[in-house]
Amino acid sequence: MGYNPDKPMDGRISDLGPPHYEQFFPPVIKANKGKWLWHEITQPGVLMHKSETDDEVYTVRVGTARLITIDLIREICDIADAHCDGFMRWTTRNNVEFMVDSKDKVQPLLDDLASRDNRFPVGGTGAGVTNIVHTQGWVHCHTPATDASGVVKAVMDELFDYFTSMTLPAQVRIALACCLNMCGAVHASDIAILGVHRKPPMIDNKRITGVCELPLAIASCPLGAVKPAKAEVDGQEIKTVKVTVERCMFCGNCYTMCPAMPLADPEGDGIAILVGGKVSNRISAPKFSKMVIPFLPNNTPRWPETVEAIKKILEAYAKGARKYERVGEWAERIGWEKFFEECDIPFTDKSIDDYRLAYDTWRTTTQFKYTSHIK
Ligand code: HEM
Ligand code: SF4
Ligand code: SF4
Repeated sequence: MGYNPDKPMDGRISDLGPPHYEQFFPPVIKANKGKWLWHEITQPGVLMHKSETDDEVYTVRVGTARLITIDLIREICDIADAHCDGFMRWTTRNNVEFMVDSKDKVQPLLDDLASRDNRFPVGGTGAGVTNIVHTQGWVHCHTPATDASGVVKAVMDELFDYFTSMTLPAQVRIALACCLNMCGAVHASDIAILGVHRKPPMIDNKRITGVCELPLAIASCPLGAVKPAKAEVDGQEIKTVKVTVERCMFCGNCYTMCPAMPLADPEGDGIAILVGGKVSNRISAPKFSKMVIPFLPNNTPRWPETVEAIKKILEAYAKGARKYERVGEWAERIGWEKFFEECDIPFTDKSIDDYRLAYDTWRTTTQFKYTSHIK
């Protein structure tokens, strides 16, 4: 019956795909699929959807740490069993949603959630700060320049009141990626936290022959900084690579291809902050986020510099932006020179694009606003 290592293909089941989602629909969702008329946010974290059949479904959204134990998932299941006929769902930002089919079931659910030591904070709806989409960090990946779970916890602790309220001009999406592979959403978020290196890779000539496909390492470099080279190891000439250090911008791509080119460094590595991205088409087209702070240190375990910088940006935005305006729309309306001024961020040459299509990002107009901010 069980897996037989001597006959690995015996009884092997494959290519089944995921189970069909409809088998996990709560009855009220199944009955009203495609018939929803309107919705409202009844309070932060609670939504109501009205169907043309007059049915209602109330959804209670709670924050999660994304990286969670089976024990916590079991607790989620217990809550779903007690209040929601055993049904629940995850959102695209890794919040959890519990659904009930009548208004009188909402408060008992909220009371139950509140009784569980803040493991299930209710919120994440409307114009606030919802969960931070993030990556593996030092928990599991081998290319990070910073941690994911640690930074996210530090930032969400500081911004917690924005998770449970809806007081901002528009929703603010924060995302984190621990290297510039950007797994996730950092390139298109209102505020993005990105792990960056500042030192070129080291080259381990003793290992490189055994572990690297050299042409891959050479082709992986966006700047042509990796060149074929020869070296001597134990009196033998071997093929290796050399890095033109002045051309290297520490992206780490060559290390992804070649394990003999590590570049992580405790002092060199840290965090860059990007702002102004969005993916929706509401009013303005989707935008990429732009780099405004080139480096903040990996000050574990609470990353105070990063937390402070994000809070400052968020508060300046909350003060300055108009209703419905996303961070990027606000920055573009007031002008980036004013954005730096309002957020009290020192502008550095690192924010000036110098990669291939850079020209289009420079200012080809006499339109600008005087700012006393940049000394
Ligand atoms: C001597 C008088 C005027 C001058 C020199 C003038 C000049 C201009 C200029 C240079 C623009 C910008 C065009 C562009 O960005 O391509 C403009 C736009 C505009 N002007 Fe005038 N204008 C004058 C009178 C008026 C009057 C009397 C009206 C209305 C009754 C008016 C209504 C507008 C509007 C609505 C726009 C914006 C058009 C758009 O962006 O779609 N202008 N004007
Ligand atoms: S962003 Fe980079 S370091 Fe983080 S999980 Fe993805 S590949 Fe790994
Ligand atoms: S880190 Fe990036 S820029 Fe530097 S050599 Fe490797 S691939 Fe090229």
